[in-house]
Amino acid sequence: MSPVKTGAGRKQRTPSTVADTPIGLDVGTANIVAYSNGQSEPFAAMEANAFFTVPSLPNTRKILDDKEIAFYEKGADLYILGNSAEEFANILGGCTRRPMEEGLVNLREDDSIAVIQAILDRVIPSNVRQGQPLWFSIPGEPLDRPGAVIFNESIFRTYLKELGFKPRPINEAMAVVMAELSDQHATGIGISMGGGMCNICFSYLSIPAVTYSIRKGGDFIDQTVGRSVGESATKIKDIKEQELNLSIAPRNNIEHGLHAAYDDLFASLVESLGQVLKSSDNVPRLKQAVPIVLSGGTVMPPGSRERFKAVLEEIDLPIRISKVVLARNPLQATAKGAYLMALADDES
Ligand SMILES: Nc1ncnc2c1ncn2[C@@H]1O[C@H](COP(=O)(O)OP(=O)(O)O)[C@@H](O)[C@H]1O
Ligand SMILES: [Mg+2]
Repeated sequence: MSPVKTGAGRKQRTPSTVADTPIGLDVGTANIVAYSNGQSEPFAAMEANAFFTVPSLPNTRKILDDKEIAFYEKGADLYILGNSAEEFANILGGCTRRPMEEGLVNLREDDSIAVIQAILDRVIPSNVRQGQPLWFSIPGEPLDRPGAVIFNESIFRTYLKELGFKPRPINEAMAVVMAELSDQHATGIGISMGGGMCNICFSYLSIPAVTYSIRKGGDFIDQTVGRSVGESATKIKDIKEQELNLSIAPRNNIEHGLHAAYDDLFASLVESLGQVLKSSDNVPRLKQAVPIVLSGGTVMPPGSRERFKAVLEEIDLPIRISKVVLARNPLQATAKGAYLMALADDES
């Protein structure tokens, strides 16, 4: 990997975390979240999984350092990282670039791995005890691209080991079940709807019996609506995050597009669930009905749960569903589930 000089990077931030703590890490296409023990309560640090390059002029480096903006320098460019990348893109115009797409590290982009490592350095507490358990999320195999996730897992495992952790992977949707369905003995279906993909896990008593993913999520919504109304995906994303309410009728073309794209995504999810549950040999044969828990940033708009339920009711599943619930904090549930595993690992 090419040598880089890093600014405002590791160890100066995350003041509310203590060093000696099990950690849960959610490495998503859109966001990286680390969940750990804070000083008085669990603490989640979140950074956008994105970067934005600007020319490296005399003084820029010092100004960015003073303002504690995370970046690294490579050649004639400064790579602004994480949430700051999004701020820069909004202010200067243009788009951030992403080191991951559709849930997987983008290996066509030279700097992907270096960028992700630098963002991990921002969110993970420093001075960890050697061998501290850290559980990190991995996606399930995409239905249409089996075998794609192995490389992802090894990239993260290798780097986290280098930092001194004892890293263990956990399926992203399984982590959601651990965080949200403990009152159901971790039995049920977890669905994590992120930016790049949706992950699905059918867990029986904390055992991930069926896991898979589909390569469609919030980015798909932004891009398809953007194309159909002639606006940038970035603008659609903003409107989606700030204004969309799926429980009221759409008021303009963009909202019509967003409602239709959400229905399309939910239909893809529910159809895939039907297919997988009917064809997999591993589906737990349960008499009782099981809950579905929805998580990930894409379920944030009001009305998403009701809309998903309506689409679900149109399909015959080989199992009965007792209820559909939302994760308490959809942006943090995966990291929290991974943290709970790391905590149990630490105590065992
Ligand atoms: N308030 C919101 N309303 C609608 N969508 C949201 C909201 N907040 C985040 N999102 C969307 O959620 C996705 C990111 O969710 P996240 O679970 O962090 O993804 P990933 O697992 O891919 O990192 C993006 O597509 C983003 O636009
Ligand atoms: Mg995610």
